[in-house]
Amino acid sequence: MQRREFIRSSCIACLGLSVGASVLAGCTGTRYAHGTLNNNGMLIDIAEFETRNKGKRPYVVVRHDDLSYPICIYRHEDDTYTALLMRCTHQGVELQVSGDQLTCPAHGSEFDNRGQVMQAPAPEPLRTFPVSVTGTQLFIDLRKQA
Ligand code: FES
Repeated sequence: MQRREFIRSSCIACLGLSVGASVLAGCTGTRYAHGTLNNNGMLIDIAEFETRNKGKRPYVVVRHDDLSYPICIYRHEDDTYTALLMRCTHQGVELQVSGDQLTCPAHGSEFDNRGQVMQAPAPEPLRTFPVSVTGTQLFIDLRKQA
């Protein structure tokens, strides 16, 4: 194999690996959970955080027709939860979640899993809601900010 041909085939192989890795990363993606709205908030089964092999998901996202934006619920190491409205505090664009952070596709703001700003231009933290455990469900109080 000539040097030029070797370099070319190596580059193609690297490209294939990087594309494959990004596709796999996307496959591990977001769990969309079902939530039930009542007068004061939303109920979600805690089982939504469980994986098929009895692992725990770090977060789930709940979409509902009656909500303008989805809510991302993070489960922390100490079994506490943070519910975050996925609305960027810069200009109101819906955020994208990946791992322990939410990012804004419009201008690049980033937030951590408790809603704190990690990267401007967002001027303030995300709106959060109180979360309480009631039996096998989480109750997200949508009336007030946490
Ligand atoms: S709307 Fe999110 S950074 Fe501008």
